Amino acid sequence: AIDISKLRGKSGYITIDPGFKNTGSTTSAITFLDGEEGILRYRGYSIEDLAEKASFLEVAYLLIYGDLPTADQYAEFEHEVRTHTLVNEDMRKIFEGFPVNAHPMGTLSSLVSAMSAFYPDSYDSNVPADTEMHIIRLMAKMPTIVTWSYKKSQGHPVNYPDNSLDYCSNFLNMMFALPVEKYEVDPVVAKALNKLLILHADHEQNCSTSTVRLVGSSQANIYTSISAGIGALWGPLHGGANQEVIEMLEAIKADGGDSQKYIDKAKDKNDDFRLFGFGHRVYKNFDPRARIIKKAADEVLEKLGVNDPVLDIAKTLEKAALEDEYFVSRKLYPNVDFYSGIIYRALGIPTNMFTVMFAIGRLPGWIAQWKEMRENNEPIGRPRQIYTGPTERDFVAMDKR
Ligand code: ACO
Repeated sequence: AIDISKLRGKSGYITIDPGFKNTGSTTSAITFLDGEEGILRYRGYSIEDLAEKASFLEVAYLLIYGDLPTADQYAEFEHEVRTHTLVNEDMRKIFEGFPVNAHPMGTLSSLVSAMSAFYPDSYDSNVPADTEMHIIRLMAKMPTIVTWSYKKSQGHPVNYPDNSLDYCSNFLNMMFALPVEKYEVDPVVAKALNKLLILHADHEQNCSTSTVRLVGSSQANIYTSISAGIGALWGPLHGGANQEVIEMLEAIKADGGDSQKYIDKAKDKNDDFRLFGFGHRVYKNFDPRARIIKKAADEVLEKLGVNDPVLDIAKTLEKAALEDEYFVSRKLYPNVDFYSGIIYRALGIPTNMFTVMFAIGRLPGWIAQWKEMRENNEPIGRPRQIYTGPTERDFVAMDKR
């Protein structure tokens, strides 16, 4: 039992809310979401509209600066990002030191943190900080770094960015072009990638975004704050779920395709197994992003002429789970990552890169939230606790223990 008198701190009672299920950490003007109604809006614009009509960089501008860009503002922002995609060659030397099988999330987090060393005005208070340029650099260079991991895993030389290409096409070119043959970006693939990045661009105070804000609240630099966010995203209960989903669907397929067996396993309270891609802290009816992604998965696979048996397993699993009392009563619906991996696969992106794709998408959200936190002069984040360890003890010499 908790002694109520211990709940009192110097400035009042302390509330305990593990996982912050009902505790707000900030006010924010960036993203609105209503988990009961399944509504998601960036700066007031519906996710459905943005995913259908906007480009990822347009959405990035909206999140970071608050309004949709005019044609001139967009042209300038796009130009800046396009012309800062090259990464310092000394960063390559750091990268070369990683083993060939390093997980792309570990590599990305390390290299984004290393960027602070290359741009010391980000942390040195004796030099005026050029935050706008740090924002551009992050947006421009993160996709380049991500493609290095893929190229290394294939034993291929890295591709330098091509400033004549738009954001998504440049990424695809760095990923897939080979020196020996001509590579043409498929517009269907570029469009699908654009949509996925928009759907992941922000999601208010989720685990990785809260991490970015918390680290930044000590006035740590933007690179280190975002590197910490990448670490938080990696976990299988957060962004890492997209890799887990495909691995789970493949395991079901290899095991004869019996979805019910896995549903029963997920329901078994003596088994730690969870149905990856199901459930969400805030969405209790449906995840609006999942609806858009499911439709996009159908379209992309059809346009690319891909027949992925894992898509059929995903659909069967979704249907069976949604008819099951366990999932219905707990309001567990497919989340954004249930279908995203199927599209990434169709685009040729390997499973261990799904979470870095999410990171590229979430980057403008992290930047916008970090900027908002700093502009609002938020105090350093420092949660309280209730101590439950031993009361005072006398030190015992080692030979007496
Ligand atoms: N499979 C089986 N049971 C589940 C699942 C699942 N995927 N998710 C939740 N439950 C059950 C829990 O066991 C719990 O049951 P109980 O009431 O009998 O104890 C109940 O549903 C509530 O679950 P919590 O874990 O308390 O919910 P919480 O809000 O803390 O967690 C989370 C949300 C982490 C997303 C969870 O649903 C989960 O682990 N899902 C699978 C991982 C996943 O897909 N993560 C991606 C989330 S989206 C994103 O980050 C981009």
